[in-house]
Amino acid sequence: MFKIVGRESMAGDTVILNEIEAPRIASKAKPGQFVILKANETGERIPLTISDLDANKGTITVIYMVVGKSTALFKTLGVGDAYQDVIGPLGKPTDIEKVGRVVCVGGGTGIAVLFPITRGFKETGNEVISIIGARTKDLLILEDKMRSVSDELHVCTDDGSYGRKGFVTEVLKEVLEKNKADLAVAIGPVPMMKFVSKMTYDYNVKTLVSLNPIMIDGTGMCGCCRVSAGGETKFACVDGPEFDGHKVDYDNLMDRLRAYEQQEKQAYDEFCESEAL
Ligand SMILES: Cc1cc2nc3c(=O)[nH]c(=O)nc-3n(C[C@H](O)[C@H](O)[C@H](O)COP(=O)(O)OP(=O)(O)OC[C@H]3O[C@@H](n4cnc5c(N)ncnc54)[C@H](O)[C@@H]3O)c2cc1C
Ligand code: FES
Repeated sequence: MFKIVGRESMAGDTVILNEIEAPRIASKAKPGQFVILKANETGERIPLTISDLDANKGTITVIYMVVGKSTALFKTLGVGDAYQDVIGPLGKPTDIEKVGRVVCVGGGTGIAVLFPITRGFKETGNEVISIIGARTKDLLILEDKMRSVSDELHVCTDDGSYGRKGFVTEVLKEVLEKNKADLAVAIGPVPMMKFVSKMTYDYNVKTLVSLNPIMIDGTGMCGCCRVSAGGETKFACVDGPEFDGHKVDYDNLMDRLRAYEQQEKQAYDEFCESEAL
């Protein structure tokens, strides 16, 4: 069992942070890697990125948005409760090197995934310009943490309730016009990663994106997480989750993510009914 030792509610209770006792994972995990969690014996296997860790305390931190049945079940767990299983670290770590100037772009809960990677680039001596965005002010997460690991931080909201009004891509265009970037990292909703990658392609800036296809085993066995990159089929759990943003077939990824929409809605509705939520 993997005990929850810290819990925080964010973004109006739609995003939850859990600090979990997992000493072996905390001693090995690197930025960009993820874990697969199960709430109980019959629970679904849910992949979440390791957003932070404390190797001395033996804990990892995950931050998840409540979007369906399993994340709603996770939300019912409090400090002192435990996950039945936490497996990891899984996936390839981010290739963090000193490259010069890195532009980190995050949207929504993607900012939780982006944070340890941004910190890694900053600690390696890069100049880091970060751009984070959310639909509205109340949904913006980790602003202070992102500021603490960035030389420059731009914040925007779609509705203009905080920071600049507009999408992260608008700020990105200005940043790229003003600065020569050596690398971009974009993590967030699939359409955001698609449009960031289109823009950085025009500016000839190598771009990393982190993909979130549906996963089951997380070890390259089931084929469920296949994505298309540069015309080749890859398994995001073992070949990724990071890929060259200029090579990913985003429309295929979006189609595959929608494949079980109806079943997911039914499972969520039944769960809410049974829990009287
Ligand atoms: C490597 C990786 C890292 C991720 N890291 C984070 C993170 O740090 N924070 C976060 O909020 N979310 C993260 N996700 C997405 C998260 O796993 C899904 O939101 C979660 O599985 C939804 O489950 P559900 O039962 O609550 O919702 P459902 O109603 O079942 O599904 C909601 C949406 O989530 C996707 N999804 C459903 N089941 C899975 C699954 N087994 N694997 C992946 N996606 C699924 C589907 O596209 C669906 O449209 C990550 C996904 C991957 C692959
Ligand atoms: S999740 Fe099964 S192969 Fe990647």
